[in-house]
Amino acid sequence: MKIQGTWHRSLSETSEGGISIIDQRWLPHELRWVKLSSLEQAVQAITEMWTRGAPLLAAVAAYGLCFGLERDASDAALATAYDRLLATRPTAVNLRWALDHIRRGVSPLPEAERATQARSIARAICDDEVATNQAIGHHGLTLIQAVAATKPPGQPINILTHCNAGWLATVDWGTALAPIYRAHDAGLSVHVYVDETRPRNQGASLTAWELANHGVPFTLVVDNAGGHLMQHGLVDLCLVGTDRVTARGDVCNKIGTYLKALAARDNGVPFYVALPYTTIDWTLQDGLTEIPIEQRSQEEVTHLWGKTLAGEMTSVQITLDGVATANYGFDVTPARLVTALITERGVVPATAEGLASLYNHPPYLGQLPTLLPSL
Ligand code: MRU
Repeated sequence: MKIQGTWHRSLSETSEGGISIIDQRWLPHELRWVKLSSLEQAVQAITEMWTRGAPLLAAVAAYGLCFGLERDASDAALATAYDRLLATRPTAVNLRWALDHIRRGVSPLPEAERATQARSIARAICDDEVATNQAIGHHGLTLIQAVAATKPPGQPINILTHCNAGWLATVDWGTALAPIYRAHDAGLSVHVYVDETRPRNQGASLTAWELANHGVPFTLVVDNAGGHLMQHGLVDLCLVGTDRVTARGDVCNKIGTYLKALAARDNGVPFYVALPYTTIDWTLQDGLTEIPIEQRSQEEVTHLWGKTLAGEMTSVQITLDGVATANYGFDVTPARLVTALITERGVVPATAEGLASLYNHPPYLGQLPTLLPSL
């Protein structure tokens, strides 16, 4: 990830044995790095949305479990730490995947060896994620190149994205934004329509900031604009990330994604979803009924967070006191509305057969290194 021309990861180990992450609540106005070194801090960072995005949640949760084991590696402490971290964000399945991976890796070991092993696995999860996202970028680039070949010379490829599925949501590169960065770096003219993504505005505050830092041209639009843009031929493809994909290809992603998929289908615009294997929940089929949808606070709906003219970060109320609200964090786009899934192993139809063709056996809880494709 590039911040003002310098390459960073969104999570790195500190010399004191903790981790350094970005407190994303202050973006795009301030880049604030924070250090975490305890289970409690990891839980707080995830619960209070300092850090977010399905793949990055997995990495932070992995280190949170590692910090817990460094303090107390007993079976009881492992179970408590696992449960506390699992309860932080219920929809993104990557978090559970990482916790399961570590628990399975340390449980057979003597207590004295558990923390060291947990740290090795947490490191491997981060490295694996970076490689996985690079591969997603590689495969997604081929789709963007195919669209570019159909455009008149000099015309940009217009891509609509929702929420933030860039490097801020991962350890590096991002999922949906990885192909966009690759295309831009390869010299293709890409332009991104960025949905603001109410209520927390991850598009406006995070995706726009990321794209600006990488030098990718973009236009920020309000969430309701996507249908209009597609009706007028202004979008060549939609490209989004996801927080959980079922074994048959239903896609759970930030609230509002489904409406974009409907508009895309009505207007003949391809709708692609980028995901790492850690986002597939092989235990579920029907996303609509089986995926738990996180419900978030009323305040995200009734208030807006931002910078005043005087330069102070503050929250303002935009509704009457006490209005009834509903705040579903995610929705499910049925597989039939998804043109294809872009994974680290290639591009496949959003079907049970498509996913099975890439992953011979459900890799849930599989060995990390064997899942990586060679490019
Ligand atoms: O609630 P958040 O901000 O953690 O939302 C998750 C996301 O970042 C998006 O849904 C994203 O598109 C999928 S994660 C790469």
